[in-house]
Amino acid sequence: MRKVFIGGNWKSNGDVNFIKNHMKSVINTLTFDKTKCEVIIAPTNLHLEYTRSLLDKDSAVEISAQNVSAYGDGAYTGEVSAKQLRDYGLNWAIVGHSERRSLFGESNEVVGKKTKISLENNVKVIACIGEKLEERESKKTMEVCLSQLEAIAKNTSDWSKIVVAYEPVWAIGTGKTASPQQAQEVHGELRNWISSKVSKDVAKAVRIIYGGSVTEQNANDLITQADIDGFLVGGASLKKGFKDIVDSYKNYKI
Ligand code: PGA
Repeated sequence: MRKVFIGGNWKSNGDVNFIKNHMKSVINTLTFDKTKCEVIIAPTNLHLEYTRSLLDKDSAVEISAQNVSAYGDGAYTGEVSAKQLRDYGLNWAIVGHSERRSLFGESNEVVGKKTKISLENNVKVIACIGEKLEERESKKTMEVCLSQLEAIAKNTSDWSKIVVAYEPVWAIGTGKTASPQQAQEVHGELRNWISSKVSKDVAKAVRIIYGGSVTEQNANDLITQADIDGFLVGGASLKKGFKDIVDSYKNYKI
């Protein structure tokens, strides 16, 4: 039995006023069964503390970083290390988001390093992978996704601390969601790969979540697919509909 995982990636969105309202009107109104569902939100590093201060004391929602340094503490201007995240009480970091890969030049090697250093510091990782439109059109979806997954797998010592996020780049922020069947096809192949290259037990236990234009309109259909264990939500995590997306865990059958 896997627990549904739903993440809200706020990206570089939100100011003090927005966060104040969003915490009150959406995040602090989320109700879910902690034994069946896990929810994280990822504000900018600047707003981590403010967001945390507004979270209801008894809230089960956890706060994640959107990124982590590939290096340790030291002379790395602008970076936040995994050790610092851990020290700050953060349990999660998003690693390898496609925006980091395409806009900030993060290679598979860098994503691997970030995964490794996070796990070494006991920070759990939401590891993102996904193909671009031209890669899908030239039938390279699995080749791309598996090479990205392999770079993560090589650096993963403890799979219970990894959530794999399949996020087709063409579906991120575009309003074009992968159909439930398209997403399931990739999720199924990713799980098969983990089963043969890592272990059957890990493949059964690891959460593989989907990201890319998830909304309250499509979450219920996506979550009923056999290998979709939750979502990484961008735009819709900043809106009221995030509550309905979280509620979709009730339709999860695994
Ligand atoms: P989106 O972003 O939901 O706005 O498409 C998803 C993501 O980038 O994680």
